Amino acid sequence: MISTALTQLFDLRAPILSAPMAGIAGGALAAAVTRAGGLGVIGGGYGDRDWLKSQLAAAGNTPVGVGFITWSMAKRPDLLKLALDHAPKAIFLSFGDLRPFAPLVKQAGIPLIAQVQTLRDAKVARDEGADVIVAQGTEAGGHGSIRSTFTLVPEVVDAVGLVPVVAAGGVADGRGLAAALMLGAAGVLCGTAFVTSEETLLHPNVKAAAVAATGDDTLRSSVFDVARSIDWPEPWTMRTLRNAFSDQWADDFDGLRSNAAREAARYAKARDAGDTDVSAVIVGEGIGLIHAVQPAAQVVQRIVDQAEKLLAR
Ligand SMILES: Cc1cc2nc3c(=O)[nH]c(=O)nc-3n(C[C@H](O)[C@H](O)[C@H](O)COP(=O)(O)O)c2cc1C
Repeated sequence: MISTALTQLFDLRAPILSAPMAGIAGGALAAAVTRAGGLGVIGGGYGDRDWLKSQLAAAGNTPVGVGFITWSMAKRPDLLKLALDHAPKAIFLSFGDLRPFAPLVKQAGIPLIAQVQTLRDAKVARDEGADVIVAQGTEAGGHGSIRSTFTLVPEVVDAVGLVPVVAAGGVADGRGLAAALMLGAAGVLCGTAFVTSEETLLHPNVKAAAVAATGDDTLRSSVFDVARSIDWPEPWTMRTLRNAFSDQWADDFDGLRSNAAREAARYAKARDAGDTDVSAVIVGEGIGLIHAVQPAAQVVQRIVDQAEKLLAR
């Protein structure tokens, strides 16, 4: 068994967190990851209170964390209170200023996990008392920024003293976990590796498109945020698969904005129908290492088994 500061902090059998993927990582995925020995995190996303309640219920008695997109949650701080009232195993904050919320989490006695994309924000998270800092590189699926995992992780490790650091971005098998540990991380956070899990709340077409893709097929852009009229602040852009929609609009945001109503309707219809030529398949470069739709427990086991073999050599 791999024992690290992360596994000791949360009493885990595997140094793996599943990412709080907005609307995709519900209670079933989070609970499955926790039962497999890691720590599953529900993706609180853009602030749907009923959805969050239902997913907390779906996790049942299995301890899970709850993640928020901080700039979005700042408009609905009642959601943080809702999550804290459920005594989650951790609160996970990314993308935005955590300073107004860190004291609330700490006062509730809940561990705070902060995901950052820069050394500067890692230091802020350390100073605010984050119990775990996730250093997210640009390889990551979903929103992120421009630093790469390979350099960001050891730089953050060196800067934050005893705070356990978790590597995120491009880790999708045991080679990635073993490498992350060598960089000084105490574990990994995986999103892309779990996108094709049986438990994720995604159309089967999306999972099929993800399984068929390679790391060459991704793009980091704001094109799908513009299409969905989600006003993401800088510096965050979203890594997805390229498709016909991004080919048409990624270099023409003005054109997309001037056809906003039509394109938003087309996008929403495509998302509901699982049409991956138009709607986003949100994955990172690690998708090239994922070859099947599997239960999340098998994903955890596969990553850990391979890392243990490599580390034993
Ligand atoms: C489909 C998808 C949705 C995501 N949504 C969120 C989110 O809502 N909040 C968040 O903090 N991170 C989100 N992320 C980013 C993850 O937290 C994490 O940094 C990333 O998945 C790690 O890189 P990987 O995809 O290579 O494993 C998402 C990632 C994916 C793949």
